[in-house]
Amino acid sequence: MCGIFGMIGDSNTTKLLMQGLKRMEYRGYDSSGICIVDNNEFIRRRAVGELSNLEPLVVNLPNAECGIAHTRWATHGPPTEDNAHPHMSPKLDVAVVHNGIIENEVELRKELSSIDKNIIFKSDTDSEIIAHLLSNEIKNSGLDLKKSKDEEFISCWKKVIDKLEGSFALAVILKGRNDFILFARKFAPLVISHDGNKGILASDVSCIVGITDKVHYLEEGDWGLINKNGLKIFNIDGDLVEKEPKKLEWTLGDAELGGYPTFMLKEIYEQPRVVRDCLRGRLSREKIKGVSIPFNPRLLRIVGCGTAYNAGLLARYYIEQLSKIPVILDHAHEFRYGAPSGPKSLVIGISQSGETADTLAAIQAAHERGYPTLGIVNVESSTIARNVDTMIGIRAGPEIGVASTKAFTGQVLGGLLVAMKLGQDSKNFHREDLSYFDRHARMLPTSIERMLNDQNIKTKLWEAQQYFVDKNHAFFLGRNTSYPIALEGALKLKEISYIHAEGYAGGELKHGPLALVEEGTPIVVIASEGSSHKKLLGNAREVAARGAKVILITHQEDELADSHADLVIKVPRTHDLLQPLLYNIICQLLSLNIAEERGCNVDRPRNLAKSVTVE
Ligand code: G6P
Repeated sequence: MCGIFGMIGDSNTTKLLMQGLKRMEYRGYDSSGICIVDNNEFIRRRAVGELSNLEPLVVNLPNAECGIAHTRWATHGPPTEDNAHPHMSPKLDVAVVHNGIIENEVELRKELSSIDKNIIFKSDTDSEIIAHLLSNEIKNSGLDLKKSKDEEFISCWKKVIDKLEGSFALAVILKGRNDFILFARKFAPLVISHDGNKGILASDVSCIVGITDKVHYLEEGDWGLINKNGLKIFNIDGDLVEKEPKKLEWTLGDAELGGYPTFMLKEIYEQPRVVRDCLRGRLSREKIKGVSIPFNPRLLRIVGCGTAYNAGLLARYYIEQLSKIPVILDHAHEFRYGAPSGPKSLVIGISQSGETADTLAAIQAAHERGYPTLGIVNVESSTIARNVDTMIGIRAGPEIGVASTKAFTGQVLGGLLVAMKLGQDSKNFHREDLSYFDRHARMLPTSIERMLNDQNIKTKLWEAQQYFVDKNHAFFLGRNTSYPIALEGALKLKEISYIHAEGYAGGELKHGPLALVEEGTPIVVIASEGSSHKKLLGNAREVAARGAKVILITHQEDELADSHADLVIKVPRTHDLLQPLLYNIICQLLSLNIAEERGCNVDRPRNLAKSVTVE
């Protein structure tokens, strides 16, 4: 999704803005731009495609002390230079960068055209209107760009913000004014920071790492002004607010590859640490600690998008199995516009970023309906984390690869903690069950490490990837707790290798997908537990009989496996509830290897964004 970065008060502004844009590349973008205030003028440079297209355009820019920059992920109009941010007013006195969607753009355009019939919009974007509006407001208020005071611009800015409907994070600069940046946020993330000499604002903390380690997280509707000396933050009602800065969750190491060729590989290899951190202090032989459930629910609803939804599906199996409480799982976007009925339920929102627009809106919809909420979130400073009644931080650390990997592991563990807690509270999950689980969970990080370094598995993965490289379609099959892994395996493969991949529950095979199986179709079968495993092996036979190439992912104690697949990848045996996590890591590695062999950029897949902050 789009990224915003703005700086004031540092003589290296241009260089730092470019560094910030580079750090935000992982979010996904298709054009970029920068605008600095130089003496009495703006200098703006924009380019389509990779940041490397913008870099040569900025090398000779003067050192400025104030500027804004943007990476754009096209929504309104194609990725062209005209549509790239920053956008300017017709008089070239206001420049703006925007994340989000202005929903009343058409009405606002009409309003402006009725005032000035000759008005020309230079882009297809909804964002350009903001520069026009502020420029008009400055003119109508009789302000002088050179002489008027900060306060006067602040009141113009408020009038503009009040006209905007939709979602936005905004940074605005004025021609010839290198002494302040105006900002605002509503349903789109924005953080700001000031160290007494220089100010920074960004939609993503990745830009800020290494420049400062303290930030202010803005609340919905906050707006204001940042200048060389400090900040003025106002809330939605226009009151000046004092905020304590918070320590940044990121370190410089998080923003860098640290010797790995890709962030995706780095993050896959971080999973042993994620398991340790996520369970630390929460799991013991006797009880689940630090997980508070807001009330005693008779029904649970889980919402999430993408990988978080798949983790939610696994959580649903766990919660129903361990606590016997029914669970309804929804894509967050379906929940928010649905009309959930039934008993008052606990709504669990799962989100890595904590900023996914649909998941956030689903949480807000839950509040409006009077449902208590629980978040399973990675970024603990995020909007979702701050909006839910109670939160479980998964402690995966910053995830940069667009395709989510380590966060899935953390999200599943978060769901498992909730399931065990509800199971204990409802007396369906006993102390000896927990003690048995605890023993295995303590060994899980070592099992993952062993698996990641296992030469035999590496060879098998290489053999498996040969089944895929020249194929356009693939399937993943699972049953029960391995069904979510089939969905997640297929999602990972399609996201980064562009092979069309679908995940199915084995029982669904004969109801459609079997028609698509032909000679050589690669099908990954992910072992399940108990009686459904034999059923799944039956499915493997059915697809093999139709010419499919079957790759079976199972554990070392599965004796039936070898006679049911062209290739079997065996992982260490662990607790049934944890076993799917190991299978999933194999799927992650398989997708990564296939994508790389096909020459794809695994960290920045085409058309996708790390954090989908607009609908
Ligand atoms: C995007 C990302 C996915 C992620 C999904 C939900 O689609 O590309 O990797 O799973 O958003 O994101 P969240 O931050 O809410 O978990």
